[in-house]
Amino acid sequence: MERKPLNIESRLAQIGSVHEPVTGAVTFPIYQATAYRHPKLGQSTGFDYIRTKNPTRQVLEDSIAGLESGDAGFACSSGMAALQTIFAMFSQGDHLIVSLDLYGGTYRLLDRIMSKFGVSASYVDTNDLDALEQSRKPNTKAVFIETPTNPLMMITDIEAVCTWARHHGLITIVDNTLLTPYFQRPIELGADIVIHSATKYLGGHNDVLAGLIVTKGKELSEEIAFLHNSIGAVLSPSDSYQLMRGMKTLALRMDRHESNATAVANFLTTHPAIAEVFYPALPDHPGYEIQHRQSSGNTGIFSFKVKDARYVEPVLRHIKLIAFAESLGGVESLMTYPAVQTHADIPVEIREAVGVDERLLRFSVGIEHADDLIADLDEALNAAVAEVEGGVLG
Ligand SMILES: Cc1ncc(COP(=O)(O)O)c(C=O)c1O
Repeated sequence: MERKPLNIESRLAQIGSVHEPVTGAVTFPIYQATAYRHPKLGQSTGFDYIRTKNPTRQVLEDSIAGLESGDAGFACSSGMAALQTIFAMFSQGDHLIVSLDLYGGTYRLLDRIMSKFGVSASYVDTNDLDALEQSRKPNTKAVFIETPTNPLMMITDIEAVCTWARHHGLITIVDNTLLTPYFQRPIELGADIVIHSATKYLGGHNDVLAGLIVTKGKELSEEIAFLHNSIGAVLSPSDSYQLMRGMKTLALRMDRHESNATAVANFLTTHPAIAEVFYPALPDHPGYEIQHRQSSGNTGIFSFKVKDARYVEPVLRHIKLIAFAESLGGVESLMTYPAVQTHADIPVEIREAVGVDERLLRFSVGIEHADDLIADLDEALNAAVAEVEGGVLG
């Protein structure tokens, strides 16, 4: 009887464990060598020089390609390095359509660096096909989507955009950082390229900086392989090992992140100091239906608005278990103030037009006990209200 393909939990737990042919080591070793002997002139073991190919990195790259249902994977020194490698595909005069609400670093790379090379971008609500159509130009080459977006959790229908893009000969690139292949696989929905800040959920422990790219199709895979090697922003062997170690527990962590985030988000919807909670797992979120259809779960990060911007400073001062720090996706809970941290490089009028204003806080919910997180938040919010209002909100 033919065996069913392994479930994603098993594939994650087993990353690298059947690849080491010499000793049978169940975790793949770190090959630190930068150069490899050639058996003779014109021959190679398959490994020549570390930037081009490294055995440890290769196991990681093959794993992420498989997990994302793509053809090739590329490990980069950061999420930004992965984005730069992808954007290097474009030439002077090319135009991109990009999600309106977007990680600030991606915006900065496009606005301040790619623009110098003559690559322009239009920022639109990528869930609005009319807006996409209106922003399309004769020189448009690609659509770049974040879904959910960071920090406002806007959801884009990946399949609908990919179908539209393919019809117009455009490629679709999806930043899948917030959901990971455990919950969402954009290539199965028609995307051409997936990118990750693996610093976040894939690494999962707030201790490794990495980026991953997955491509579908021979031509794109060859092009990104050329750029990956030529630009050289590749991941080191030890960081590749560390990232795979984190990925082995991705399924367990994502399930816990999701259940904790749902519990905390539900609590916040009932707190009198909170104006709004942006989390696609909540049934009244505008992207709830699409998210439910295209993903098998929800990210562990969400944003919320306090009723008064003056609450922000005391909330950040009073949280104890939750750290006021600038990242997401790790086992430790972190709270970020996007307007002055992650999204500070986006011009204030663009930021505020999408809703990233001075009342917005972003919460990356870790894997601690949900009750402890709720208690920490409740205490900090009540202390903030008491300081600002001199009492409890009515
Ligand atoms: C959605 C998203 N994409 C890309 C990046 C950039 O990744 P890195 O910090 O690993 O360079 C980040 C970083 O926060 C992110 O949140």
